[in-house]
Amino acid sequence: MRILLAPMEGVVDHLMRDMLTRVGGFDLCVTEFIRVVDQKLPKRTFYKLCPELHHGSKTPAGVPVRVQLLGQHPQWLAENAQTAVELGSPGVDLNFGCPAKTVNKSKGGAVLLKETETLYNIVKTVREAVPVDQPVTAKIRLGFEDKTLAVDNAVAISEAGASQLVVHARTKTEGYKPPAYWDWIAKIRQHTDIPLVANGEIWTADDARNCQQQSTCTDLMLGRGALALPNLAQTIRGVENPMPWEQVASLLIRYSGYEIYGDKGRYYPNRIKQWCGYLKRQYGQAEVLFNDIRRMQNADDIVAVLKRQSSHVKVA
Ligand SMILES: Cc1cc2nc3c(=O)[nH]c(=O)nc-3n(C[C@H](O)[C@H](O)[C@H](O)COP(=O)(O)O)c2cc1C
Repeated sequence: MRILLAPMEGVVDHLMRDMLTRVGGFDLCVTEFIRVVDQKLPKRTFYKLCPELHHGSKTPAGVPVRVQLLGQHPQWLAENAQTAVELGSPGVDLNFGCPAKTVNKSKGGAVLLKETETLYNIVKTVREAVPVDQPVTAKIRLGFEDKTLAVDNAVAISEAGASQLVVHARTKTEGYKPPAYWDWIAKIRQHTDIPLVANGEIWTADDARNCQQQSTCTDLMLGRGALALPNLAQTIRGVENPMPWEQVASLLIRYSGYEIYGDKGRYYPNRIKQWCGYLKRQYGQAEVLFNDIRRMQNADDIVAVLKRQSSHVKVA
């Protein structure tokens, strides 16, 4: 079983990838998307979203990080894919699932799921531009408003030469509302041999098993579930029990930048609050913590609260 950490713009940044891959259980991370419009982007754009490129495109725990691109023009995507790979990204991932209005209005993300031929052209052009030993992978939803093109889109992406397809098992219109329609991934599998990865609504080890059964996929991608339960991947692998809150509090301190940058370093008060929002799903303590720190703007104050709650268990 391979478990991938989902790309999450504004949430799963390099610090979060560092932390979650130290906790363990992940085989691959995908970056937040890099928006490609009509130009070859400067290298600094890639380094900003994927600082791991400075270190062989791996997190400190050694897990590979693949750059994700989002756009609509095959040629510009291809040129930027070349840059990503030249900088060390292990292949490139293409985002065809983003529901954001601004992105869809300019014909990027999930809106392309209405245009099977465009999907094909993008994947084929990128595939031809990137060295053969570097994977070109894609991520889709089941459709834009309905699922009528789900199979056609997957087949087109496969025929264009992609080597892996992550399927977030909902349409754009269904957003993030449960359920995820994992059985649709099984339908896709009946029509294509492309290695599939199931994604959407996996919060517990039981969900993972149900998803595997219904989707017929062994491989999984975890998004919000991994933020709600940082060692979800390890619980799915059956090697750990859900992490106790004290350990989560230690992770929060690390995420605050306190341990990495020292007392006067960079802090991420808003990011801590944002992460609490996800943790609330699994930990009642996160709700209490959120209320305690909600009005705090000074990260020292937040870290002081966290230190009282943490187990002082250091993450490796
Ligand atoms: C805040 C947020 C940001 C996201 N950013 C991206 C992104 O940059 N690229 C992408 O392909 N998917 C993105 N997604 C979708 C996730 O990768 C994933 O497909 C989705 O959350 C469903 O999986 P989950 O139920 O495990 O969270 C994002 C989702 C959320 C909630």
